[in-house]
Amino acid sequence: MEDKIRVLIPEQEVDEKVKEIGKRISEDYAGKSVHLICVLKGGVFFTCELAKRISVPVSLDFMSVSSYGSGTESSGVVKIVKDLDEPLAGKHVLIVEDIIDSGRTLSYLIEILKQRNPADIRICTLLDKPSRRVKKEVQVDYTCFSIPDEFVVGYGLDYDQKYRNLPYIGVVEL
Ligand code: PRP
Repeated sequence: MEDKIRVLIPEQEVDEKVKEIGKRISEDYAGKSVHLICVLKGGVFFTCELAKRISVPVSLDFMSVSSYGSGTESSGVVKIVKDLDEPLAGKHVLIVEDIIDSGRTLSYLIEILKQRNPADIRICTLLDKPSRRVKKEVQVDYTCFSIPDEFVVGYGLDYDQKYRNLPYIGVVEL
Protein backbone atom coordinates (compact mmCIF):
# COMPACT_ATOMS: atom_id res chain seq x y z
CA MET A 1 0.00 0.00 0.00
CA GLU A 2 1.24 3.49 -0.82
CA ASP A 3 1.80 5.88 2.04
CA LYS A 4 0.19 9.29 1.96
CA ILE A 5 2.79 12.03 2.11
CA ARG A 6 1.93 15.67 2.76
CA VAL A 7 4.41 18.34 1.66
CA LEU A 8 5.78 20.17 4.69
CA ILE A 9 8.57 22.18 3.04
CA PRO A 10 8.47 22.41 -0.76
CA GLU A 11 11.52 21.74 -2.92
CA GLN A 12 12.10 25.37 -3.86
CA GLU A 13 12.01 26.50 -0.24
CA VAL A 14 14.54 23.82 0.76
CA ASP A 15 16.83 24.73 -2.13
CA GLU A 16 16.72 28.45 -1.30
CA LYS A 17 17.48 27.79 2.36
CA VAL A 18 20.40 25.47 1.54
CA LYS A 19 21.79 28.20 -0.71
CA GLU A 20 21.40 30.79 2.09
CA ILE A 21 23.08 28.57 4.70
CA GLY A 22 25.88 27.76 2.23
CA LYS A 23 26.49 31.48 1.81
CA ARG A 24 26.59 32.03 5.58
CA ILE A 25 29.06 29.18 6.02
CA SER A 26 31.24 30.57 3.22
CA GLU A 27 31.31 33.96 4.98
CA ASP A 28 31.99 32.47 8.41
CA TYR A 29 34.85 30.30 7.13
CA ALA A 30 36.37 33.00 4.88
CA GLY A 31 40.10 32.41 4.47
CA LYS A 32 39.83 28.83 5.78
CA SER A 33 38.92 25.39 4.46
CA VAL A 34 35.97 23.49 5.84
CA HIS A 35 35.95 19.75 6.43
CA LEU A 36 32.41 18.43 6.09
CA ILE A 37 31.50 15.26 7.94
CA CYS A 38 28.42 13.64 6.52
CA VAL A 39 26.54 11.42 8.94
CA LEU A 40 25.16 8.55 6.86
CA LYS A 41 22.72 7.73 5.58
CA GLY A 42 20.30 10.60 6.13
CA GLY A 43 22.87 13.36 5.82
CA VAL A 44 24.03 12.47 2.32
CA PHE A 45 21.58 14.49 0.21
CA PHE A 46 21.91 17.62 2.33
CA THR A 47 25.71 17.33 2.47
CA CYS A 48 26.00 17.17 -1.33
CA GLU A 49 23.63 20.08 -1.92
CA LEU A 50 25.26 22.16 0.80
CA ALA A 51 28.81 21.43 -0.42
CA LYS A 52 27.85 22.80 -3.85
CA ARG A 53 26.82 26.09 -2.22
CA ILE A 54 30.00 26.66 -0.21
CA SER A 55 32.59 28.85 -1.88
CA VAL A 56 35.58 28.24 0.44
CA PRO A 57 37.64 25.04 -0.12
CA VAL A 58 35.67 21.95 0.98
CA SER A 59 36.83 18.46 1.88
CA LEU A 60 34.42 15.66 2.68
CA ASP A 61 34.39 12.59 4.84
CA PHE A 62 31.68 10.14 5.83
CA MET A 63 30.73 8.38 9.01
CA SER A 64 28.05 5.86 9.75
CA VAL A 65 26.75 5.34 13.24
CA SER A 66 23.98 3.22 14.60
CA SER A 67 22.10 3.93 17.74
CA TYR A 68 21.09 1.09 20.03
CA GLY A 69 17.52 2.08 20.56
CA SER A 70 13.98 0.83 20.66
CA GLY A 71 12.52 1.64 17.26
CA THR A 72 12.18 5.40 16.86
CA GLU A 73 14.02 6.43 20.07
CA SER A 74 17.79 6.76 19.98
CA SER A 75 19.44 5.58 23.17
CA GLY A 76 22.62 7.64 23.10
CA VAL A 77 24.70 4.50 23.00
CA VAL A 78 26.15 4.85 19.55
CA LYS A 79 28.16 2.31 17.62
CA ILE A 80 30.51 3.44 14.86
CA VAL A 81 29.60 1.36 11.82
CA LYS A 82 31.96 3.19 9.47
CA ASP A 83 34.61 5.51 10.80
CA LEU A 84 36.11 8.50 9.02
CA ASP A 85 38.87 7.87 6.47
CA GLU A 86 40.88 10.98 7.30
CA PRO A 87 42.36 12.34 10.56
CA LEU A 88 40.82 15.54 11.95
CA ALA A 89 43.84 17.20 13.56
CA GLY A 90 43.90 20.93 12.86
CA LYS A 91 40.81 20.86 10.63
CA HIS A 92 37.75 23.10 10.78
CA VAL A 93 35.13 20.39 11.10
CA LEU A 94 31.49 20.89 10.22
CA ILE A 95 29.23 17.95 11.08
CA VAL A 96 26.30 17.77 8.67
CA GLU A 97 23.09 16.08 9.83
CA ASP A 98 19.69 15.67 8.24
CA ILE A 99 17.84 15.92 11.56
CA ILE A 100 18.51 16.50 15.24
CA ASP A 101 15.92 14.98 17.49
CA SER A 102 16.95 14.07 21.06
CA GLY A 103 20.51 15.23 20.30
CA ARG A 104 21.94 11.98 21.67
CA THR A 105 23.68 10.89 18.45
CA LEU A 106 25.33 14.26 18.03
CA SER A 107 26.31 14.60 21.67
CA TYR A 108 28.16 11.30 21.44
CA LEU A 109 29.72 12.11 18.07
CA ILE A 110 31.02 15.47 19.25
CA GLU A 111 32.67 13.83 22.25
CA ILE A 112 34.56 11.27 20.18
CA LEU A 113 35.51 13.66 17.39
CA LYS A 114 36.83 16.26 19.86
CA GLN A 115 39.42 13.72 21.01
CA ARG A 116 40.92 13.77 17.49
CA ASN A 117 42.09 17.39 17.96
CA PRO A 118 40.28 19.30 15.23
CA ALA A 119 40.82 23.11 15.16
CA ASP A 120 37.09 23.45 15.88
CA ILE A 121 33.80 21.62 15.45
CA ARG A 122 30.53 23.16 14.33
CA ILE A 123 27.17 21.61 13.61
CA CYS A 124 24.90 22.11 10.61
CA THR A 125 21.50 20.47 10.29
CA LEU A 126 18.75 20.51 7.72
CA LEU A 127 16.02 19.95 10.30
CA ASP A 128 15.76 20.42 14.03
CA LYS A 129 13.02 19.27 16.37
CA PRO A 130 13.78 21.42 19.42
CA SER A 131 10.76 20.11 21.33
CA ARG A 132 12.36 16.63 21.36
CA ARG A 133 15.76 17.68 22.68
CA VAL A 134 17.10 15.72 25.64
CA LYS A 135 20.75 16.75 25.30
CA LYS A 136 20.27 20.48 25.85
CA GLU A 137 24.00 21.13 25.74
CA VAL A 138 24.16 20.37 22.01
CA GLN A 139 24.65 23.75 20.33
CA VAL A 140 23.62 23.88 16.68
CA ASP A 141 25.43 26.50 14.62
CA TYR A 142 23.43 26.31 11.40
CA THR A 143 19.81 25.15 11.19
CA CYS A 144 17.84 25.27 7.95
CA PHE A 145 14.42 24.59 9.47
CA SER A 146 13.04 24.07 12.98
CA ILE A 147 10.01 21.84 12.71
CA PRO A 148 7.30 20.43 14.98
CA ASP A 149 7.43 16.82 16.14
CA GLU A 150 6.09 15.14 12.99
CA PHE A 151 7.22 12.04 11.09
CA VAL A 152 9.22 13.61 8.28
CA VAL A 153 10.71 12.04 5.16
CA GLY A 154 12.57 13.20 2.06
CA TYR A 155 15.88 14.94 1.38
CA GLY A 156 17.67 12.02 3.02
CA LEU A 157 15.11 11.12 5.69
CA ASP A 158 13.45 7.74 5.45
CA TYR A 159 10.45 5.75 6.53
CA ASP A 160 11.51 2.12 6.55
CA GLN A 161 14.37 3.04 4.15
CA LYS A 162 11.92 4.59 1.65
CA TYR A 163 11.48 8.21 0.49
CA ARG A 164 15.06 9.41 1.09
CA ASN A 165 15.13 10.58 -2.53
CA LEU A 166 12.14 12.93 -2.34
CA PRO A 167 13.36 16.43 -3.27
CA TYR A 168 11.14 18.05 -0.60
CA ILE A 169 10.39 17.48 3.08
CA GLY A 170 7.17 15.56 3.59
CA VAL A 171 5.13 14.18 6.46
CA VAL A 172 3.96 10.58 6.39
CA GLU A 173 0.26 10.54 7.24
CA LEU A 174 -0.05 7.32 9.21
C1 PRP B 1 18.85 10.03 12.48
C2 PRP B 1 19.59 11.33 12.15
C3 PRP B 1 20.49 11.52 13.31
C4 PRP B 1 19.72 10.90 14.46
C5 PRP B 1 19.06 11.98 15.24
O1 PRP B 1 19.60 8.96 12.01
O2 PRP B 1 20.29 11.26 10.93
O3 PRP B 1 21.74 10.89 13.12
O4 PRP B 1 18.73 10.04 13.89
O5 PRP B 1 18.41 11.47 16.37
P1 PRP B 1 18.81 11.90 17.85
O6 PRP B 1 19.02 13.39 17.85
O7 PRP B 1 17.60 11.50 18.66
O8 PRP B 1 20.03 11.14 18.26
P2 PRP B 1 19.01 7.47 11.89
O9 PRP B 1 19.41 6.71 13.12
O10 PRP B 1 17.55 7.53 11.56
O11 PRP B 1 19.85 6.85 10.68
P3 PRP B 1 19.82 7.17 9.09
O12 PRP B 1 20.39 8.57 8.92
O13 PRP B 1 20.72 6.14 8.49
O14 PRP B 1 18.41 7.08 8.60
